[in-house]
Amino acid sequence: MNEVEKIDSIEHETGAIYDHLFTAYSDKLFDESVELFFKRHKMWNIDLDWFRDKVCLDAGCGGGRFVVALSRLGAKKVYGVDISKDAVRVARGRVAERGFADRTEIKNASVLEIPLEDNSVDYVVCSGVILLSPEPYKAFLELNRVLKSGGKMFLSVYGKGGLKWLANDLFRYTICKIIPFGAMEKIWQFAGVPANKRYNMLDNLYTPLTKRFTEKEIRQWFTDNGYTDLRRVKFERYDYETLGSRIVHGEGWIQIYADKIIR
Ligand SMILES: C[S@@+](CC[C@H](N)C(=O)[O-])C[C@H]1O[C@@H](n2cnc3c(N)ncnc32)[C@H](O)[C@@H]1O
Repeated sequence: MNEVEKIDSIEHETGAIYDHLFTAYSDKLFDESVELFFKRHKMWNIDLDWFRDKVCLDAGCGGGRFVVALSRLGAKKVYGVDISKDAVRVARGRVAERGFADRTEIKNASVLEIPLEDNSVDYVVCSGVILLSPEPYKAFLELNRVLKSGGKMFLSVYGKGGLKWLANDLFRYTICKIIPFGAMEKIWQFAGVPANKRYNMLDNLYTPLTKRFTEKEIRQWFTDNGYTDLRRVKFERYDYETLGSRIVHGEGWIQIYADKIIR
């Protein structure tokens, strides 16, 4: 297999895992996940009015929760791309049901090859996606390519270290090599684990890649590409700054908001 075929095969396998997961979301779970966008941005003191009339991209949009959130904030146009065909289908359905079909465009495409012009969007959100890619930095450069100078990017990736990953990998490289994904999903479903929790854990156990990064490394990507005002924002769930949390979560969930310098 040459490099291109390897990347295609990883993306295909990754997409197939998410095909299962996003179709399982109920409307209620979906709407709760949209509300989280508003709640967290308020918590992070990010002005929600800024999104009005902006052109936005959700790279790796999954079931479309950020596409819907950005449309609700009055964005002029919201693009979504994802390699999972079912995620794209589900996301299109969700935006259409909520009346945003005319202002959105969701395509089956990779973050390594975004079907948009250079400097064409004001805002990029890419959450939990490039860590699944064989070429995460190349994906970052692709996000940067489509973002206008003066635009904003929100990137989130997994941080390195911590007991949580140790436990995850213990399962990932043992039990999960014996029990296939479909069977494991059915077991969890039967045990009553809700779709959002299944999705949050099963993907880390079964996607071909789950890369983890250091905050320093990610900050370097941004500074090397002319970004300013880098802000790490955190979840309400745990705080990566305490010792206990560091032991469990390592570098935590690295979420950076940054502004692309106006040139
Ligand atoms: C953890 S989910 C996150 C979905 C969404 N960003 C969210 O936060 O709800 C990861 C998503 O990235 C997509 N994905 C993985 N690799 C991708 C790639 N190379 N290009 C585009 N999408 C990708 C998966 O299909 C999946 O929908």
